[in-house]
Amino acid sequence: MGALNEFIDQHFDRFVEELIELLRIPSISADPAYKEDVRRTAIAIEAGIKKIGFSQVEVHETAGHPIVFAQEHVDDKLPTVLVYGHYDVQPPDPLELWNSPPFEPVIQKTKIHPDGAIFARGACDDKGQMYMHIKALEAMLATTGLPCNVKLLIEGEEEVGSDHLEGFIAANKELLACDVVLVSDTSMIANDVPSITCGLRGLSYVEVEVTGPNRDLHSGVYGGAVANPINILAEMISSLRDENNYITIPGFYDDVDEVSEDDRARIGEIPFSLEAYQDDLKIGAAEGEAGYSTLERASIRPTLDVNGIWGGYTGEGAKTVLPSKAYAKISMRLVPHQDPDAITKLFTDHFQSIAPESVTVSVKPHHGGKPAVTPTDSIEYRAAEMAMEEAFEKKPLPARGGGSIPIVSLFEDLLNVKTVLMGFGLDSDDIHSPNEHFGLFNFEKGIRTIPLFHQHYASLKKAT
Ligand code: BES
Ligand code: MN
Ligand code: MN
Repeated sequence: MGALNEFIDQHFDRFVEELIELLRIPSISADPAYKEDVRRTAIAIEAGIKKIGFSQVEVHETAGHPIVFAQEHVDDKLPTVLVYGHYDVQPPDPLELWNSPPFEPVIQKTKIHPDGAIFARGACDDKGQMYMHIKALEAMLATTGLPCNVKLLIEGEEEVGSDHLEGFIAANKELLACDVVLVSDTSMIANDVPSITCGLRGLSYVEVEVTGPNRDLHSGVYGGAVANPINILAEMISSLRDENNYITIPGFYDDVDEVSEDDRARIGEIPFSLEAYQDDLKIGAAEGEAGYSTLERASIRPTLDVNGIWGGYTGEGAKTVLPSKAYAKISMRLVPHQDPDAITKLFTDHFQSIAPESVTVSVKPHHGGKPAVTPTDSIEYRAAEMAMEEAFEKKPLPARGGGSIPIVSLFEDLLNVKTVLMGFGLDSDDIHSPNEHFGLFNFEKGIRTIPLFHQHYASLKKAT
């Protein structure tokens, strides 16, 4: 371990420089205008993996953005770890809320990151976390060698639903065959409270359109006599939750796997200050489903949230108009064993059924994904636990994450393997928001912990 950690010490500044170069490329998967930048990022990663000495590195074209695949085979007798990550990023808007441009990374100290953090879109989600693996593997190849066979699968469409990755996995099962998937695309509780994510929420995402009169109308001439689709939409949306913030769609909770009292007790043991949480967000009170704590609401319970709502006149000044149409984008975060397609159908049927005769409603489904739970009594969890305990000098806690990584359930369905979610970001790193950042402490800890995972995993596997 001495040589490996020394290598990391000696090269850490360069690792940061390289990550900064990668963050300069605006790999925004959602916006077709950035298609070439997305590709450039894939090619930069390909070059980076070749440089550290992987013998097989390929960029696979898809109907969408390219997938980078690489592998270093050591020995047929050793287990194979497949590392998954994504190099695409969310759009950076609203730009005016960034303190420095999203694709011109800067290092700045913060209260939570006194050693400095890299501010840029993708710094944490997921270029920074993905790059920790490439640098950890570089350090291993340069010193101790690899204790397992390693495959890398780095995609460019995670932030838009991984549409082409599913087909790629289904068509390349042999190439991707492995014993475990290792992912760093989640967060820890705090820098002094390491944790391993043991579950993710699923997602159903819909766009609704409410149409009233066949054209925009004068709100004085017609107002009061013709249904206003924005008013109707607002009423329909507010009826989707009751006074306890319980979702009212019939059947919505039918498949929810209620979490055991033991598991809830473990969540209760996670250090958490509601006051600090509220203070960080500058809110007078947190809010959510009655009967559950804030941490539970944000991890083990399903949600329904409006992500965007529009219609009518939103320009300067006042225009008196009764709009013809109103729209909203709505996400539902799902928990085991809710099925995204079934939930989308329940939503659609219910939303149609509550529409008054004065309007027509259409519901368009967007991408979704299944929830996932990862076992905590497995060899791979144990390997992650040992690795983190060694690197942080503190035993990590298991914690369910509130976000979604739809491909995780597909690894299980298509490759029949479990995933370890060993992330090093923090919830406060502002992923998807302005001023996204990733602590240098976190980047470094990740690079030091990952080799330990591979070592522990290889020896635990050997012992079985
Ligand atoms: N890395 C996140 C998911 C995440 C973040 C999980 C923090 C746990 C903690 C991922 O890139 C993401 O943003 N996923 C999307 C889903 C996708 C279908 C667009 C999400 O959760 O909104
Ligand atoms: Mn991510
Ligand atoms: Mn994301």
